[in-house]
Amino acid sequence: MNTKAQVTPQLSDALTQIQQRVNGVLADKIDQLDEAAPALKAAMKHGALLGGKRIRPFLVYSIGQMLGKSLSSLDNAAAAIECIHAYSLIHDDLPAMDDDELRRGQPTVHIAFDEATAILAGDALQSMAFELITESHQDLTAQQQLNMVQSLAKAAGYRGMCGGQAIDLSATNCRIDLDRLTELHNKKTGALIICAVELALIAAQADDKTTASMIDYAKALGLAFQVQDDILDITSSTEELGKPQGSDQDSNKSTFPQLLGLPGAQDCAQQLINDALSALANIPYNSQLIANFARYIIERRL
Ligand code: IPE
Ligand code: IPE
Ligand code: MG
Ligand code: MG
Ligand code: MG
Repeated sequence: MNTKAQVTPQLSDALTQIQQRVNGVLADKIDQLDEAAPALKAAMKHGALLGGKRIRPFLVYSIGQMLGKSLSSLDNAAAAIECIHAYSLIHDDLPAMDDDELRRGQPTVHIAFDEATAILAGDALQSMAFELITESHQDLTAQQQLNMVQSLAKAAGYRGMCGGQAIDLSATNCRIDLDRLTELHNKKTGALIICAVELALIAAQADDKTTASMIDYAKALGLAFQVQDDILDITSSTEELGKPQGSDQDSNKSTFPQLLGLPGAQDCAQQLINDALSALANIPYNSQLIANFARYIIERRL
């Protein structure tokens, strides 16, 4: 498999623009907080603003725009999903979970601050997500916002990310089968990626056929994303990743390469991206950007 990142200029420009845009929304939101708990505020900034590819906001903006929504109507949904993601990473790195000391090329939040502050920063970012998504906007009805709240709450909780993280912990130091590993990955990572797509579909009031095809795209993309994350844990370097290479192996995690071997995991990721691209063939919109994004997901080195 070609491991060199093949980011087209169009995708690269779009990723950069979206990173800048969502960073602005997040920075504004956190800066508006008062100074009653300065260490907590600084820890939230550390966890949310220092780097990150912003792939979930990318999905919200690029799909929302493809379906005709303005960027401004997507800002809060994009920032909200990134808040949930940032919280999940802060907690994922804690000593009680993956016990990692490096994230996005920086000390993890519990290293830069302390464990209690890291726990609270994750909690506060989670709350901030729901604050953002319920701020009224002239282009979104209250019903749309309610649907967004439901999507985000479901994806972040027991049936999604938290449930997946719990399965991940229980599958550490033991062997699980491919079905259980797929469930684990779909929940811990796939759920938030599907949610990013869902937020855009809700914002744009997409029709049923488009919604079904885009959810198929998101399911395949979300699983491929975590399979590639597992592959990179083996094939990339700490410098490239900005997080500790070999963390999964060191803690004896259940991963796709561990179960299928590295070539098997790479084939699986490629097949999933083929599935994602097939789903796009069914929609009557220009999906070139999100097709290139799907290819990038398994070609990335970070
Ligand atoms: C890392 O997510 C954790 C997983 C869900 C695999 P990302 O690879 O999106 O992390 P950042 O936001 O770019 O740092
Ligand atoms: C974490 O998966 C997924 C979530 C944070 C929900 P990993 O533990 O594989 O993520 P990294 O590799 O530490 O980024
Ligand atoms: Mg983990
Ligand atoms: Mg981890
Ligand atoms: Mg990982």
